[in-house]
Parts: sequence; structure tokens; C-alpha cells
Amino acid sequence: MLDRALLEALLAEVRLAPSVHNIQPTRWRLIGNDTLLLLEDVTRRLPAADPSGHDVRLSHGAAIEGLSLALGRRGLGIADIQPMAEPTVSGSLQPVAHIAVAAGGALDGLADFVSARTSWRGGFRPFDAAGEAALDMVSAMTSDAQLLRGVQTIDEIARLADEAGFHFLCDDAHRSELLRWMRLSRTDPTYQRDGLSAEAMAMPGLVAFGTGLVLGPLFPLLRRLGLAATLASERGKFANSAVALFHRPDGEDPLASGRAFYRTWLMLAAQGLAACPVSVLADWPASSRQLAEHYGVPAGRRLVNVFRLGLPDGSPPGSRARLPVTELIV
Ligand SMILES: Cc1cc2nc3c(=O)[nH]c(=O)nc-3n(C[C@H](O)[C@H](O)[C@H](O)COP(=O)(O)O)c2cc1C
Repeated sequence: MLDRALLEALLAEVRLAPSVHNIQPTRWRLIGNDTLLLLEDVTRRLPAADPSGHDVRLSHGAAIEGLSLALGRRGLGIADIQPMAEPTVSGSLQPVAHIAVAAGGALDGLADFVSARTSWRGGFRPFDAAGEAALDMVSAMTSDAQLLRGVQTIDEIARLADEAGFHFLCDDAHRSELLRWMRLSRTDPTYQRDGLSAEAMAMPGLVAFGTGLVLGPLFPLLRRLGLAATLASERGKFANSAVALFHRPDGEDPLASGRAFYRTWLMLAAQGLAACPVSVLADWPASSRQLAEHYGVPAGRRLVNVFRLGLPDGSPPGSRARLPVTELIV
């Protein structure tokens, strides 16, 4: 059923799944003709931003959902997922889960949006009637996301996101790790491979250059002068947006949460809504608690991430940085 050629074709779609900082940590190994071993490239972990490995595991989950969608196009499906109980690292690879593939999968409509979905970090235009209808549709289609609207509510969340973001930026290790994954110049040899390109971050050349200085050598001075928080602010990006609190059952394996996270994002794309996660809001305990208390994440659920979303005011980035498929097979 599975062979190298089919695996390469599948991974050409799977690799379009989102991953935190675009680190693309997921690797694949074919075992026999019906099982895949999913492995983690441990050199791509984010010890400062993601010390528990939660977001890396969410990213693996998104890749698994990408696999499921790609298999469904071919009449195949995931029959079973067995997470490794006590994985050991061998070289740079750590096994994460065995995935059994079987005949009988069905085409899932969300597969059509895998190529179009992207992290939208540009501006939004005001919601029109079609946009409102899209939001209503999303609310009706998922119980994993709570949609928040209203200028005042969104501005409160934008301020909270700035506070959370600045909290993390003040940590030197966090800032330098983020800078390591930013591709601020097109001359960077890894610009098309991985990480966060200036284009993907909707940064014109001069802004990208300035960002490198603000988050790099100038940060301590700017912080002392009280200017760093203002310069790092992303509050303006929330203009005209809605916010979705993405929540999943308490105690759920992030592999499963990551699958649902990707499906929700694809569902937004299917409704013509552009979106981008704002992880700091869920990662910082103070903001996560505040959001849950003020906006009511249901009992027994935990806030996994937060999307800023809306009607995109512009076109998506032309290219998406991804590793070649051959590097994903180990
Ligand atoms: C678990 C997770 C957390 C993420 N958090 C953020 C975030 O806080 N801010 C952001 O701009 N993008 C975030 N992203 C989006 C990734 O940076 C994005 O998926 C990656 O750069 C690939 O780009 P694409 O989504 O356009 O394909 C996150 C993605 C995942 C899977």
C-alpha cells in the first residue's frame, strides 16, 4: 500500500501543515507497507519558547492531520495511532508515534484548503455581511473555538497580547531563540527552507532590518529608555479582527489537540477567513487565566491557543518556506 513514491507525494501535502516558528520538527520513516513512524528532529526544539515541548507536539499533531487529509484523497486513512510510551533519542531523532495506514479513507473537504491556508500577519478590513456570515458559520461548525468580537473586547485582548509578548521578549534566551528562527533578509540561505521570513511576517525590508536591531543589540537600551514595549507592540494588527479562543479537553495529548487545531484553521480558511495564532496569550499563565475568566473557556477544557482572524486586507505571501520532502524522510 505505502511505498517511497507515495510517501513523497503525501509529504508534499503534509509539509504545508503549520508548525511553531515554522521549525518543521516532524520526520517520517516507512515501516513495512502499512505503517509510518513519526519522529521528532530534536535539534529543532525551542527550549526557550516551548520548554515543555507542548507546541512542538501540537505541530506533530497538525502534521498527523495533514497526513490524514492527504491519505483521504487517495482512498486511504489512518487506522491507528500509537504514541510512544517512553521514547529514547537516537542521534537527532526521537520516535513519537507509530501510525497505521489502511484502505477505506474518504476525501475530506478541508483537504482542498491545505494549499491556501497560511499564517496571515497582515491587516484586516472591516467585516461585511459575508464576513459576518462566515463567523456565524464557524461558530456553528465547531465547539472547539469561542469567537470574540467588538472593538473594546478585541482591543483589551490586543493589549493583553502585548503584555504577554513583552513578558517573553524580556527574557534574553527567548528573544535570541526567536531571532534565530527569523529570516529577516532574503539573502539568508535558509529563507525558503524554514523559520519566519520577513515576507511571511508581513515586514517590508526596512521594518525587518529594524526588527533585527530592536530584538537584538538595541533591546536592553530601548527597554531602559521605556521604548521597547511600544516598538514591539502588535496591537495595531488586531484592528478589524475577531479573536477565537481555541480550547480542547483538559489532559488531552497535544498530538490530538494539534490535529483539531489544524482542522479549525482549515475551517477558517474554507470560510474565507485569514488567521494567525497568538500563542503568547495561551502560554503566559497570567493572560491565559484572564482570558479564561473573562470570556469563559468551558469547564473541563483548556485554552490551547488563540487565533486573531478576519477578512484579509491584501494577498497572502507568495511563497512558503518549507524543507524539501526528501529531508523529511529518515
Ligand atoms: C503550535 C503553533 C503555534 C504557533 N504560534 C504562532 C504565534 O504565536 N505567532 C505567529 O505569528 N505564528 C504562530 N504560528 C504559526 C507558524 O509560525 C506558522 O504555521 C509557520 O510559520 C508556517 O507558516 P504557515 O502557517 O503560513 O504555513 C504557530 C503555529 C503552531 C503550529
